[in-house]
Amino acid sequence: MISKKMETALNTQINAELYSAYLYLSMNSHFNSVNLQGFANWMRVQALEEMTHADKLYKYVADRGGRVVLDAIDKPPANWGSPLAVFDDVYKHELKVTSLIHALVDLAIEERDHASNTMLQWFVNEQVEEEANADALVQQLKLMGDNGYGILMLDRELAKRVFTPPVQAQE
Ligand code: FEO
Repeated sequence: MISKKMETALNTQINAELYSAYLYLSMNSHFNSVNLQGFANWMRVQALEEMTHADKLYKYVADRGGRVVLDAIDKPPANWGSPLAVFDDVYKHELKVTSLIHALVDLAIEERDHASNTMLQWFVNEQVEEEANADALVQQLKLMGDNGYGILMLDRELAKRVFTPPVQAQE
């Protein structure tokens, strides 16, 4: 059985992951509106991944005898000035999510909740990847500056990203 405190904290994280999906869907829509379909594809895959993050936590809370209570999801921004501005926001957002995950691990340790700690280690590792991916794109976009050809080449590259459902989602 999960503690009330951990149940509440994980519910808050479910909301944060769903907000992440919302944010990336909004970025998908923004890129569609400026005809950068590859960037839009990257964001759509990112949004789908965020939904699997929420689902992983959702299932975990239920498996531990807790109760998932869904809250309202904040409205994300809708427009950005450039691809770099978008990815700057992605990177900042992922840093914030990392700090939320780390706070959850701290709580699990404080509560001696070994099951939650173990489950959360997946997210700790995932955040290393999330930050690295976003940072790599920020750095590439900074190098390109206003080079339209470079942006179009990167757009083609990002069009190749494919969503791979996690094993748990197939159960
Ligand atoms: Fe669910 Fe992008 O972290």
